[in-house]
Amino acid sequence: MSENPVQPTRPIEWIPDQPPDLIPGKLRILDQTLLPNVYRTLATDNPETVYEAIRMLRVRGAPAIGIAAAMALVAAIQKETGSTGTLLELLHRTADRLAGSRPTAVNLFQALDRMRATARRHAGAEARIFKQTLAAEAIAIRDEDAAMCRAIGRFGADLLADAKTFMTHCNAGSLATAEFGTALAPFYTLHAANRSIHVYVDETRPLLQGARLTAWELQQAGIACTVICDNAAAHLMRRKSIDAVVVGADRIAANGDTANKIGTYGLALLAKAHNIPFYVCAPTTTLDMQCADGDAIPIEERDIQEITHGFGVNTVPTGVPAYNPAFDVTPADAITAIITERGVLHPM
Ligand code: MRU
Repeated sequence: MSENPVQPTRPIEWIPDQPPDLIPGKLRILDQTLLPNVYRTLATDNPETVYEAIRMLRVRGAPAIGIAAAMALVAAIQKETGSTGTLLELLHRTADRLAGSRPTAVNLFQALDRMRATARRHAGAEARIFKQTLAAEAIAIRDEDAAMCRAIGRFGADLLADAKTFMTHCNAGSLATAEFGTALAPFYTLHAANRSIHVYVDETRPLLQGARLTAWELQQAGIACTVICDNAAAHLMRRKSIDAVVVGADRIAANGDTANKIGTYGLALLAKAHNIPFYVCAPTTTLDMQCADGDAIPIEERDIQEITHGFGVNTVPTGVPAYNPAFDVTPADAITAIITERGVLHPM
């Protein structure tokens, strides 16, 4: 299937002050908490602002978090005037801080580890070269992610060539990656090949990444979509012909168990009950061979205000507790296949 020529949304950009020099520069982050009503970017060279942006989901989605963190490390060291030793120390300190922003998506830790390793390898370089090397590494992480997403789109579109009606959960699109997305990449590729498709988008409680972000992206791309409440999924699977469910991933354990946005596990079980194939799309940077299975994946628990006071409206009686896990784990045996940039994997 041919590549999508459309210029996709880029949720994070590195904007050099004086191109073509990469540094000094700033991160430009599209504030996803404001979508779909307001399109506003924030420009920063302060790693603490990036930490806050990740925590608050201004930038979110597994690969995008990793890219933002890598660029935040560049921002941290670029204006420091000390020796390479001082820069290395600052880089490690900043990486430790960013690692505490969100626990589930492994891409964050992957990107930080890669930046740390590059820094260690160049610890003998003069400060100017050290900074430039780290900046180039962060850009490489972004560019590689963009290329992986395109490849996922091609493999996914080949696999799903005969499917027309899809369901997806949360947002695993351009907004969650360097560009083009993972779960949405096959849709973009099919659409570019003039295939007529329709995507049912779970609204994705409590923060509505499906309704606010995925529907926005698909609308921008001209792909037909319909938003449904999360609890309408079973009804649709029974009454409408859903050809496939396609979702992203935050961390995939060695045995194929997959963490993704809360609600994904339930959707996988529903798909199984209705004999609908369930696909996970993810770059291999989302694989964590250190986690033997899904039980080893840390699950982020977020502020219960996201449930009790969603978007500023109090919907739960004061004093009643709430519980807000941000992710769940879908066991490998509920996954039909994992679509990566290297090809399609079938969990045993
Ligand atoms: O809490 P979020 O919005 O960061 O959760 C995002 C997801 O669960 C995505 O499906 C996942 O990160 C894959 S992004 C390509």
